[in-house]
Amino acid sequence: MFAKQYGPWALIAGGSEGVGESFALKLAAEGVNLVLVARKAEPLEALADRIRESSSIQVRTLVQDLTAPEMLDRVKGVTADIDVGLLIYNAGSVSHFSAFLDDTMEETMRMVRLGVVAPTILAHHFGEGMRGRGRGGIILIGSMAGYAGAPGEIVYSGGKAFSRMLAEGLWYELKPHNVHVLGLILGLTRTPAMARLGLAMNNPDFVPDEPDAVVEEAFVHLADGPIWNVGGKEEGARYLGTIPRADAVAFMAKGAKDLHG
Ligand SMILES: NC(=O)c1ccc[n+]([C@@H]2O[C@H](COP(=O)([O-])OP(=O)(O)OC[C@H]3O[C@@H](n4cnc5c(N)ncnc54)[C@H](OP(=O)(O)O)[C@@H]3O)[C@@H](O)[C@H]2O)c1
Repeated sequence: MFAKQYGPWALIAGGSEGVGESFALKLAAEGVNLVLVARKAEPLEALADRIRESSSIQVRTLVQDLTAPEMLDRVKGVTADIDVGLLIYNAGSVSHFSAFLDDTMEETMRMVRLGVVAPTILAHHFGEGMRGRGRGGIILIGSMAGYAGAPGEIVYSGGKAFSRMLAEGLWYELKPHNVHVLGLILGLTRTPAMARLGLAMNNPDFVPDEPDAVVEEAFVHLADGPIWNVGGKEEGARYLGTIPRADAVAFMAKGAKDLHG
């Protein structure tokens, strides 16, 4: 049933670890073939091998930086002969925190390409095929940081706000074509990337979600759209949307301080 709507192939942009890994394992269990994209070859190939050994689905891998100019051509190179019925745009975290003016323009534009340009390109490319076939799904991973300008990661939070708008509008436009679009908004989640960033995972005010639980929720809400706030954060999201903007930004600044000092 799941594979009929979202198969026969899914592409996970950022599919080697954390939430991307959990999506890959869950989709394999549903009998959906996988194209996994990430920059580091070793964890990517290790996950692909693990899935091939434990299931009968096909797995393709693409070692590719999603922010690079040749990205779409490379993605087309591994998907031209298959129907991608589910796009999951998962890659997106910051690699460090910095005041806007203290970061390099190179890193700033990299975050724009990661959070805005690449999901737009991939949603446009794969959405076209899905609309033509009259079935499919697109999941864009967002962040609570997309609900207010987040000091220390301003461009990241702007990208996540954009991602939410993209998900909402696409949800409406593709609904008549039986293509389900979901903006999946994450709060703090226990991923290897967050461990590398050194975020506190033991703060009682920010209890991290687990990647498998995030993916369970995504599967439950994929057909509903347009937005699902993971881990019971619906109220928090609404709160940030209704309080004065200065207070919302101050809330983000305090959260950042609590998490990374
Ligand atoms: N973890 C959290 O607390 C949290 C909170 C809110 C929202 N989110 C969102 O959840 C998503 C997943 O986050 P995450 O913590 O797992 O970290 P992440 O750094 O986004 O990593 C997730 C995956 O994306 C790949 N990736 C990252 N940058 C890439 C690039 N430029 N090109 C290709 N692949 C890339 C990573 O592999 P490689 O490094 O090998 O490329 C990995 O497979 C992100 O969109 C993030 O914004 C996370």
